Amino acid sequence: MPSKVSKPQGPVKARPVLTETAIARLDRLARGADVFEFGSGGSTLWLAQRAARVVSVEDNPDWHKAVVAGLRRLGTPAEVRLVTTKRIPDAIGDTGLWDVVFVDCWTQEERRRSILLGAQHVRPGGWLVADDYDFPKVADGVNRLRDQGWAVEVIAGTKLHPVRKVTVRTSTAFCHKPEDACS
Ligand SMILES: C[S@@+](CC[C@H](N)C(=O)[O-])C[C@H]1O[C@@H](n2cnc3c(N)ncnc32)[C@H](O)[C@@H]1O
Repeated sequence: MPSKVSKPQGPVKARPVLTETAIARLDRLARGADVFEFGSGGSTLWLAQRAARVVSVEDNPDWHKAVVAGLRRLGTPAEVRLVTTKRIPDAIGDTGLWDVVFVDCWTQEERRRSILLGAQHVRPGGWLVADDYDFPKVADGVNRLRDQGWAVEVIAGTKLHPVRKVTVRTSTAFCHKPEDACS
């Protein structure tokens, strides 16, 4: 079942749905990096303006179309794959290793599975960034990485909720894979 999200209202803005502090932190990690993203949106355009390579997977056809149109408008390259909701986590399977994996898709169970599968595709010394750490399934995935020796820093703050359009408290987990980890 595709995510039940309101349709994009007008052109997508090149900006992630994250707190200001988390955006600044992701900015430092993304510049010149190879980035894989679960859940497309303004972040995909923003990443494409900074990263060396971006592949993003999305389950909502309206958002997929709007993000592809936004990339074309800005003239920034990124590959945006449309898959069914259940297949989001597996979409990273054939793509190799990444400097940064960003987990921010709509549904919680797919976020949890994307964290666990995505972690296997982070190069040693690379990063997995998971938004909404305050959601139990996101915390569950991130805590599994912590148990495997990853260093986890959680950045808390406020952001505008993309659908409800109210300011919400939220947190983003920045998970650093050990240099000596087997990928
Ligand atoms: C939390 S949004 C985050 C998407 C993206 N990583 C970003 O930061 O722009 C998760 C899902 O909601 C949809 N979506 C993307 N941008 C949205 C927006 N600005 N407002 C509402 N829904 C959005 C897409 O289906 C996306 O996969």
